[in-house]
Amino acid sequence: MAYKTKEWRNAMRVTVDYNYMMSKSLGRKGITDTELRAIKDKAEAAFDYVAANRGKDELFMGWTELPYNQDEIVADILATAKQVRKKFKYFVVLGIGGSALGPIMAFNALKHLHYNELPAKLRQGPKFYVEDNVDPVRMAALLDVIDPAETCFNVISKSGATSETMTQYLIIADILEKKGLSLPDHIIFTTDESRGNLIKIDEKYGGKFKKYILPDGVGGRFSELCPVGLLPAAVLGIDIKGMLAGAAYMDSLCSKPTVSKNPALACAALQYITMKQGKNINVLMPYSDNLKLIADWYCQLWAESLGKAIDYSGKTVNVGTTPVKSLGVTDQHSQVQLYIEGPFDKVITFISVEKYACEMPIAHGCEDIPDVGFLGGHTMEELIHAENKATAYALMRAGRMNYTINLPEVNAFTLGQLMFLLEMQTAYTGALLNIDTYNQPGVENGKKATFALLGKKGYEAQKKEMDSAPSLEAKYTV
Ligand code: PA5
Repeated sequence: MAYKTKEWRNAMRVTVDYNYMMSKSLGRKGITDTELRAIKDKAEAAFDYVAANRGKDELFMGWTELPYNQDEIVADILATAKQVRKKFKYFVVLGIGGSALGPIMAFNALKHLHYNELPAKLRQGPKFYVEDNVDPVRMAALLDVIDPAETCFNVISKSGATSETMTQYLIIADILEKKGLSLPDHIIFTTDESRGNLIKIDEKYGGKFKKYILPDGVGGRFSELCPVGLLPAAVLGIDIKGMLAGAAYMDSLCSKPTVSKNPALACAALQYITMKQGKNINVLMPYSDNLKLIADWYCQLWAESLGKAIDYSGKTVNVGTTPVKSLGVTDQHSQVQLYIEGPFDKVITFISVEKYACEMPIAHGCEDIPDVGFLGGHTMEELIHAENKATAYALMRAGRMNYTINLPEVNAFTLGQLMFLLEMQTAYTGALLNIDTYNQPGVENGKKATFALLGKKGYEAQKKEMDSAPSLEAKYTV
């Protein structure tokens, strides 16, 4: 069944404005139509690659089908969420990387900005925490504010072998057991169908844990639209069907192989051209506190997907631009100075919101002080719009490339569009670079070194190698 009316969906369409990337605005510092035409064939080939491999588990491209193949899972998630909301005062996600950044981002985007501080009546759902670190101080702080007996923990780990998440699991399981509480009553697993260690734990408990499956062909950073993100969102009362409908709608907007007709392909082509010009920094700057954490989620998506040493032909390429998170207007008073006058090494992507969730009139006052008096009678929405527009304009005037992703408003449908747009942009950019967008050998190496340091069986040789590495500590420590 279609989500809302066609008119409503069209009114909520997310668009991309890249005028300030082009030479018509930036002169010699901008991209010319000829340059865009020159990568037409490459962009088409990237589009074809993504289209031809959609849904293929062996290539980790299962994420493209998530908006379409989860009817049963969504129904199950909604039923579980209803129970959780009724039964528990706290809902805590234990996970890291792709298993945490999506749930945090959707929570921040679609719930009250001070959700946990709201009175229970207004919150209408459990307090929500996502623990994505192994800082002992943070774990202790969490335990100070929740009551484990009234908490549902969602352990999210595809592998069930991630040291951080499994450390958190061990600590929480021990606390629950010592309190005489049943683990399966308090813990939901989101994990791989058959291979993950959480499945082994579940078997030990006679299959009593409630489990959700992180599909085989969906990697962590592309997993927000599967149970990884959908269960926490549903527990918070977020319209998960709207999120999936938004993703499907953006998918339909990205169905053409032409840059001027496919917003994700346009963003990918712009990023690719500027990468080739040596612009190494990719800033994402939402003008919305609700969208602040989409920048964290995007930084992982972009960095882990596109920072690669070798391409598909085996050639050493060391590609990828460095994603930087920024927030409008806050960072106008810090980073923007560098963006406008520093090196010409950045592309800034703004995320603008046309209509904010509420209005905030600015009171009249201080009429005798011209620096202040002119503000009265306007609204905060007018001010943030003006500052967003002014910053984009100032950057353009300084010859700095920037483009804007426009959201009519922040809701589940537009957030679904935005996520899918950024995922598709990443997939196309990876295809343009001819790299494996879906592996993360660098991260795996770090994980293995941690195993060795903590004495995991099978990593003795690596431990020996690390121990015998010449220590320069004394020489270079001050
Ligand atoms: O994007 C990724 O694949 C990673 O960030 C993983 O999500 C992260 O390392 C956690 O892995 P796992 O879900 O196996 O615990």
